Amino acid sequence: MGLEDFLRSVQRAVNDKLLELLPGSPPFGKKLYDAVLYSVTSGGKRVRPAICLASCEAVGGSWDDALIPACAIEMVHTYSLIHDDLPALDNDRLRRGKPTTWVEFGESSAILAGDALLNRAFEVLSGWDFDCERKVRVIEEVSTASGMEGMVLGQQCDMDAEGREDVSLEELLFIHRHKTGRLIEASAVSGAISGGAGEDEISALRVYGRSIGLAFQIVDDVLDVVSKTEVLGKSAGSDVERGKLTFVRFFGVEGSMRRAREEVERAISSVERFGKGAENLIMVARFICERGY
Ligand code: IPE
Ligand code: IPE
Ligand code: MG
Ligand code: MG
Ligand code: MG
Repeated sequence: MGLEDFLRSVQRAVNDKLLELLPGSPPFGKKLYDAVLYSVTSGGKRVRPAICLASCEAVGGSWDDALIPACAIEMVHTYSLIHDDLPALDNDRLRRGKPTTWVEFGESSAILAGDALLNRAFEVLSGWDFDCERKVRVIEEVSTASGMEGMVLGQQCDMDAEGREDVSLEELLFIHRHKTGRLIEASAVSGAISGGAGEDEISALRVYGRSIGLAFQIVDDVLDVVSKTEVLGKSAGSDVERGKLTFVRFFGVEGSMRRAREEVERAISSVERFGKGAENLIMVARFICERGY
């Protein structure tokens, strides 16, 4: 199976399961439900679920073992995008080729839809009918990666760095590793845990996730400069407009891509031990540097 087929089957499985995992429409407050449904069904590459499922496969598990964490992580990711686009954060109006959730439903419903998805992710994980020890480990991994030592901290640092000229490389790396890297790392690690991996295998997949997590945000910064709104489905040039601290500002487009490729190679070396089982992981890693042009 090539990359496109793999991603398409992940998207199909995850899109169906996500719908199953949402509650039904409520008698009152339907706007919350509509905003959640709009955000969850608006497309998206489903890269984090792909990493989660491929990691589970690499350690000998099946997709069924990791579909719940894959969907829960996508819920957390979708919430993070809804909040990231708010006027108080990046103030973006276009996402996945459609008006952002706050533009479509108003700011208050967008904030609440994000809150709802974050909580739903952990309702779904805690209700998961699975080996209890692995389940608790996955919950710990995903919650730590998402919260005040992970993505949310990275988002704070991203806001703090806006418009500043004095930011160090150390701070830039911290931002990217937290706002984006941690959840991607958790996707790989959760897949590994769900598939019954041993500690060494989990560590190898953590290195993989950490490396492609950084590469993913570096390439996201590059695409903001070199790609087009029609291709990205979000407004190109928005980082420059907001005075964001990006990799491109530090290293230029070529220098950034070089660093992203190095990270991808590091990721690939760390999963070579899985042999044929790592094929999808390797394809996803390469895709990160090749997407969006
Ligand atoms: C966008 O993530 C936000 C970042 C962390 C860079 P994706 O590029 O995975 O967005 P979707 O889910 O495909 O829309
Ligand atoms: C997003 O980073 C990180 C999170 C959503 C946690 P960006 O702000 O660069 O993502 P885009 O470019 O809006 O997708
Ligand atoms: Mg942002
Ligand atoms: Mg943004
Ligand atoms: Mg961006």
